[in-house]
Amino acid sequence: MSNTGSLPIRIFSKDILAAVKNNDVIVVIGETGSGKTTQLSQILYEAGYASDGMIAVTQPRRVGAVTVAKRVAEERGVQLGREVGYAVRFEDCSSSATRIKYLTDGTLLRECLEDPQLKRYSIIVLDEAHERSLNTDILFGLLKRLVRSRNTQRAKEGETEAGSSSSRARRLKLVITSATLDGEKFSAYFGNCPVFNVPGRCFPVDIIHTLEDHLSDYVSAAIDTVMQIHTSQPDGDILMFLTGQAEIEKAIGRIHQAVASLPAGSAGPLVVLPLYASLPPELQVRVFRPAPEGTRRCIVATNVAETSITVEGVVYVVDPGVVKQKSYQPASGMDSLDVVAISRVQATQRAGRAGRTKPGKCFRLYTRTYYEHKMPNVTAPEIQRSSLVGTVLYLKSLQLEVDVLNFDFLDPPAVGALEDALRQLLVLDALDSDGNVTPLGLRMSGLPLEPALARALLAARELGCVREMISVAAMLSSEHVFLAGQGPGDVAAGDHPHGQDSRRYVGLGDHVLLLRLWEGWEAAGCSREFAREYGLDLRGLNFARDIRRQLDGRQQRPSSPQCRWGGGTAPGAARASAAQVDALRHVLTIGFANKLARRLPRHNGYKTLHAVSGQLAQLHPSCAQLREDADGLLPEFLVYHELVATSRPFLRQVCPSRAEWVADVLPKIMSADVRRLSQGSSRGLGGAAGSGQPRSPGGGDGGGGGDRGGA
Ligand code: CDP
Ligand code: MG
Repeated sequence: MSNTGSLPIRIFSKDILAAVKNNDVIVVIGETGSGKTTQLSQILYEAGYASDGMIAVTQPRRVGAVTVAKRVAEERGVQLGREVGYAVRFEDCSSSATRIKYLTDGTLLRECLEDPQLKRYSIIVLDEAHERSLNTDILFGLLKRLVRSRNTQRAKEGETEAGSSSSRARRLKLVITSATLDGEKFSAYFGNCPVFNVPGRCFPVDIIHTLEDHLSDYVSAAIDTVMQIHTSQPDGDILMFLTGQAEIEKAIGRIHQAVASLPAGSAGPLVVLPLYASLPPELQVRVFRPAPEGTRRCIVATNVAETSITVEGVVYVVDPGVVKQKSYQPASGMDSLDVVAISRVQATQRAGRAGRTKPGKCFRLYTRTYYEHKMPNVTAPEIQRSSLVGTVLYLKSLQLEVDVLNFDFLDPPAVGALEDALRQLLVLDALDSDGNVTPLGLRMSGLPLEPALARALLAARELGCVREMISVAAMLSSEHVFLAGQGPGDVAAGDHPHGQDSRRYVGLGDHVLLLRLWEGWEAAGCSREFAREYGLDLRGLNFARDIRRQLDGRQQRPSSPQCRWGGGTAPGAARASAAQVDALRHVLTIGFANKLARRLPRHNGYKTLHAVSGQLAQLHPSCAQLREDADGLLPEFLVYHELVATSRPFLRQVCPSRAEWVADVLPKIMSADVRRLSQGSSRGLGGAAGSGQPRSPGGGDGGGGGDRGGA
């Protein structure tokens, strides 16, 4: 194990503790690898901050929370889940003995719903704040209020019943950590709180720009650069940034080929390792092991290696200047995942990775002119490029006294994105026409599911398919039920996990296929063979089983007044009836009312049913098979899980709906008026441009007004 005592955060622990003692909020800036994530919690623990409450450390990513908790438990020589634990969605590895708890920012938000004062924590570390994840941004606003309210409450109590014990509100402290130099911005937001800069130990990094920009074929340029470094530069590992899993795996193949074709003896051995967030943890830890003597390592990574994972031994960085970034267009509801230019802040971070152990070099595959004049300064925070449906429902459920538009955001989202979220929540009956959260909306936000799935699950109680909907929600929530390179489209119609019994499942799209696979796997005793035969990932299925159990537990919790099993199915019965498969499709239509599409006349293209702007889109090739009619036409109405723009707009993960079900929700879709919803009173959106004027049903899709929806 490395000597953690020499990490910069450890060296400055006295000063950090003094700052924490004297202030309710502090910002700690320290370069990546200085020990913020693994050491700060332990320093606070050792100073007694966990004696009357837990220490929470938030992480933007699930894997981050889990691997760091493991590491810290190891460093302290304790069993994970005892003194050191973690909590992420669907997985709680903490106990009453836990003093240091790593949790995702989303999990801490969820805990706020049940305990708005977060009473069990004495100190909260908002870690990796530079990432500006959507949930961390919301926590900024909530914790700012909470620190104030808990500490004033405590001060008042102190005046009246001095010295009294357990019922007193505990003081709450907040530490914000960042790897980039954005401390002033955080500090200004938190009333000019002190910023503590942990001096880094960075060696100089020589930055080499190319003479031409290589942004169009950056993969080839990056591979060439790696080979040049390997054949001409002294010892030291290489860190090469690419944008995603598939690209990384392909590039690794090409590097292997290039190494194999080098003349014998022209270079030493090269070990090439991938690193991306969805890589299984046991493969991820390989990057923490140093290479054997005389061997060079080349780590091909996404931007997880930029600030969250520190790879030791890197001397050369290859930076193509791009990153894959998700963005959302509220006007059409379309998600896109595009390769975009990184910001100058990111470029500096990447270069810094080369100087951790000795002087290094960073090869930028873009020109100095590009860097200085064209590269964006900073990356837009996630809150400005995401759908805000879940966030707005969450904020409404907290029933704060401010409306969502006036929430104290560090960087406010676009008004259009808030309007879009309000409109969608109205369609889902989560808000009433005054913009107040409904009892149904409160139940939705209490479920650990995205609003659409939560709405579908609540509808399933009424329509007798709770069991089926839970299975589908669990399969959708477990990220990897299919093996890499496999998808629903690869499960042929002829494959019948249920033998002749399967007719009712075939040709009904992805959700029903997921149900069929789940039931088939369960009936096969959750076997490895079944998983292999259908191209399924056993780990993902096991996770789905865990999620399923938890969702099931929530449905049956005796304290829940809505506890009602529909359809008379008992746990253990493994097959949905044809009526239940129908009901499942119906509840999906209710939950995904904001994600409906209608086929064009005599044509297998679709157009989304959207009050503002319907989008033309095709079925994604990965979709599970859909039954066609005699004319070879696909179902007229579909529910889709995602509208994505890759090369063209595509619908992904679809389920056929029916005209009569669509008719029930269509009036809501077309008339949702968001202008009154931001608060729940006459206070509107203040004349915001582009507010969603609903259009008449069927408008503009050339369907000749044949809206059965209106009927
Ligand atoms: O959060 P920050 O980037 O400041 O540093 P950290 O994640 O606490 O990492 C401190 C040191 O622990 C680095 O040298 C990491 O390489 C190392 N570490 C590790 O060896 N294994 C882990 N699972 C996490 C960190
Ligand atoms: Mg960290």
